[in-house]
Amino acid sequence: MAIDSSFISELKLRCPIEEVIGSYVTLKRAGSRYVACCPFHNEKTPSFTVFTDTSSYYCFGCGAGGDVITFIMNRENLDYVEAVRLLAERAGLSVPENGEATEGKKQNRERMLQMHRLAARHYYNNLIAGDNACMRYLAKRGLSMSSVRRYGLGFAKDSFDDLKNLLLKNGYSLLEMESAGLLAKSRKNGSFYDKFRNRLMFPVIDLRGNVIAFSGRTLDPDGIPKYMNSPDTEIYRKGNILFGLNLAKEKNDGMLILCEGNIDVVMLAQEGFRNAVAPLGTAFTTEQARKISQYAKTAVIAFDSDNAGQKATNKAIEYLRSLGVSVRVLQMQGAKDPDEYIKTYGRERFSMLINRSKTPTEYQLDKLKETLDLTDTAQKMEYSDKSSDIIARLPSKIEREIYAGMLAKELEISVETVKSDIERRRRNIEKAEQRRTVSDEQRAIAGSTDRVNVHRRENLLAARAEETLIVILYRNPDLLHDICDKITPQDFITQFNREVFEFITDSLKNDSSAQSLSFDEKFDGAQTSKIMFLLNTAVLSDDTRSQANDCIRTIKLQGNKKIDAAKLDAKELMSLIKKETEKDEH
Ligand code: CTP
Ligand code: MN
Repeated sequence: MAIDSSFISELKLRCPIEEVIGSYVTLKRAGSRYVACCPFHNEKTPSFTVFTDTSSYYCFGCGAGGDVITFIMNRENLDYVEAVRLLAERAGLSVPENGEATEGKKQNRERMLQMHRLAARHYYNNLIAGDNACMRYLAKRGLSMSSVRRYGLGFAKDSFDDLKNLLLKNGYSLLEMESAGLLAKSRKNGSFYDKFRNRLMFPVIDLRGNVIAFSGRTLDPDGIPKYMNSPDTEIYRKGNILFGLNLAKEKNDGMLILCEGNIDVVMLAQEGFRNAVAPLGTAFTTEQARKISQYAKTAVIAFDSDNAGQKATNKAIEYLRSLGVSVRVLQMQGAKDPDEYIKTYGRERFSMLINRSKTPTEYQLDKLKETLDLTDTAQKMEYSDKSSDIIARLPSKIEREIYAGMLAKELEISVETVKSDIERRRRNIEKAEQRRTVSDEQRAIAGSTDRVNVHRRENLLAARAEETLIVILYRNPDLLHDICDKITPQDFITQFNREVFEFITDSLKNDSSAQSLSFDEKFDGAQTSKIMFLLNTAVLSDDTRSQANDCIRTIKLQGNKKIDAAKLDAKELMSLIKKETEKDEH
């Protein structure tokens, strides 16, 4: 089906590519561009670039590229028309010329949302109608009427057809209700009945304010399951939603509290902490972490104090940190969850817990200590070993130093010893990481060629070293002579990088400021964007000088491997041998 091209232009205008892509991956600004780890292949360093000026994206790693519509097609696995519809919906536009099938789908969704809205209102009315089991339960748990209103809580009666009858009356079919996850089907006789019965109902509300699912807590102390959740439906994807985020996304002062349970969220809000959210019955997902990162700089993890909660904490730390969220861990004593804690000790004490919440490293070191007896020498050594590993994993040298200082005091060992041990571990971690990213990349680009640097694929190790060296030089023009003493463009293995290196060294020799380099004088558009991408995204280590030396060594080593002695004439061979012996003498 053809869609009017002026509509497509309008659509693209209303769906800025960086916003659309930014809702899938975390984009980092680099000039007029944005970069991210590619959503289409597995990588640790970002090679995916969004160009705002041309409204396009390109991955230098896997070669994926296109416009905002192609992105949605690939990412959501949709055909062209479906991708256009999705974007149109996002932009609040209606697509001209309606295809039958997708129109039907849209109508289904709309009806499903209406059913959920009706159901939520019905459950709410059931609850506030007067004295009932749910009202008594809320009173017992100390939840107020204003909490009921704030979260739209409700009551699913102990009945098999209360909701079913209401929705039938409103013109919905049993099959529709079943596919919305509101009815269950009897295995015995195939009849339909209310899925949620005798439960306190928490409507799950998306960020636009639509009720899209329910989570119901049993009112029966022995009820199983304790929480019943809506299944995945046309309008609900488990793991994409955080309970309470629709409210907590406003006025959270950049901080969200991540709890385990719905009741924790409601209770905290009741006590004045309106910035709490909870994953809905699923393990915390990366998608949920991404949602948090969109609405807050800091996340305080306040999971249950039991084992499961602590295990989940480590995962949440990992996910949130990798998205750049500053993470804190709240530890409770004398209560299993925030709801219990705040009821027992009050809001001031909880506020203190937030203020005293720990950094992930402090938290991990504390956990480690809990299992070990530091008066026992063997266990003390184990503590020293494991905690040094934890600290060595911190990417920031300053942080490593701070914890090294703390650890030294604790172990009564000199700071220098602890520090150098941690830095040694750090170097190993970085090396392993590099090896891993190289093999990640090798896997990612298998079958695709880098159109700009055509020699890159067969010489990945060398090419990466060349690129790093180029970036080091670009960012540290003062290293020009040091570097040029040790390596010349002829040592470079991939031709493109050789030209870039030569261009930079020549330009710097004429004019020592790298800012005035104009790559587009020598390189074409694709080449320039590849260079800009490199210069903007490379992550360098703290010790640039020794990193530069590592790169030079790698390039030369790879170069020597490449030289097939049989193909050299005697003179070339002699000069090679001479070069090698000179190296050894130094
Ligand atoms: N949950 C779930 N299914 C279960 C148990 C729990 O989906 N069978 C989810 C719910 O979202 C719940 C959260 O996990 O809010 C926390 O559950 P749990 O720790 O069991 O909560 P409690 O504090 O024990 O329960 P409550 O406070 O409601 O008594
Ligand atoms: Mn609880």
